[in-house]
Amino acid sequence: MTATNKNAVDKGSYPHFMLKEIMEQPEVLRRTLAKGIASIEQGQLSPEYGDLRLGKYQKVLVLACGTAYHAGLVGKYFMEKLARVPVTVEQAAEFRYTDSFVDPDTLVLVISQSGETGDTLAAMREAKSKGGYLVAITNVAGSTIAREAHRVINTVAGAEISVASTKAYMAQLATLYLLGLQLAMDRGRLGFKDAVPYLKAMKKIPEQVEQLLAEQATVKEWAGRLAGNEHAFFLGRGLDAAVAMEGSLKLKETTYIHAEAYSAGEFRHGPIALIEEGIPAVILATQPELVGYTVPVMEELKSRGAWIIGILGADTGQAADCCDYRMILPATLPEFTPMPAVIPLQLLAYYTACARGNDVDQPRHLVKSVKDVK
Ligand code: AGP
Repeated sequence: MTATNKNAVDKGSYPHFMLKEIMEQPEVLRRTLAKGIASIEQGQLSPEYGDLRLGKYQKVLVLACGTAYHAGLVGKYFMEKLARVPVTVEQAAEFRYTDSFVDPDTLVLVISQSGETGDTLAAMREAKSKGGYLVAITNVAGSTIAREAHRVINTVAGAEISVASTKAYMAQLATLYLLGLQLAMDRGRLGFKDAVPYLKAMKKIPEQVEQLLAEQATVKEWAGRLAGNEHAFFLGRGLDAAVAMEGSLKLKETTYIHAEAYSAGEFRHGPIALIEEGIPAVILATQPELVGYTVPVMEELKSRGAWIIGILGADTGQAADCCDYRMILPATLPEFTPMPAVIPLQLLAYYTACARGNDVDQPRHLVKSVKDVK
């Protein structure tokens, strides 16, 4: 975006674009659902999804970078579970070093906010040359990635100015969930009626996100403590591990705190040696069937001196005792917790960056869209 365009999008009463964009997420979700759902009662998506005719694809490959890659990881869990199709999520910058198995039976999802990321573009061109069917999920209509794909689903996040992506990630998540439902229906794994509870639960997410956005004062308090640290860990299992990666990226790019994300299980295989007195750990435990495995890791971290911020699901309250600070998410289907769970993580990055006096919207060394390929 040029300087002139940037000025054309107003910060309004917000001190930074990042906060404005975080606060816009309920509306982004409402727009995405209004555009994507034809009828909740009939379990029917709009032609943008319905006309894709996804039933014939035997595998899915997701190509993306950074935050868009993290959205792809969430999409993988949902699509594999509901559509019973193997999904591989590749960092676009690494894709060209692999001799990947792309063929005409491969549905290739290319996710990019800007639609101009050089690594993603190079990866998609290679996948296209091998015969893959490319569906782009991008926030900029008419972008290079949108033009070169076979089909496009435009996310409707609106212009995203802050270098740290927030609302585009939310739009990507909602789009991937809808795409996952369509894929499951097209593959005969989900009847129209079975889609109804998912769509009903999705419809409630904007309001739930609003509830969490109202908790800013709580997150600001966490940020005040986190701002004095130089290292932090983000842990979770399953879907929570994917969201932990996004929380960690958000924190490091805005605050310059060294933040690492691990699955809570993998963390015990080495990285736990880094835990010492006073280290902060942000732990996501939103999945009822996994929380029993995460609690012992939390207990171990506490016993080794870590202080813990817990992002917990409505049904995973047993993790609360291990937390120094906690936020309980509103009740939703376990598959959908990434949408509310990322809100406190985005706010945490934002308020910690502010507390450290950083240039929140334009962090050092970063550009909004990495167009070149190195
Ligand atoms: C997100 O906060 C980052 N600034 C970055 O990781 C970004 O998501 C990545 O460069 C991909 O950009 P794109 O979505 O425009 O392709």
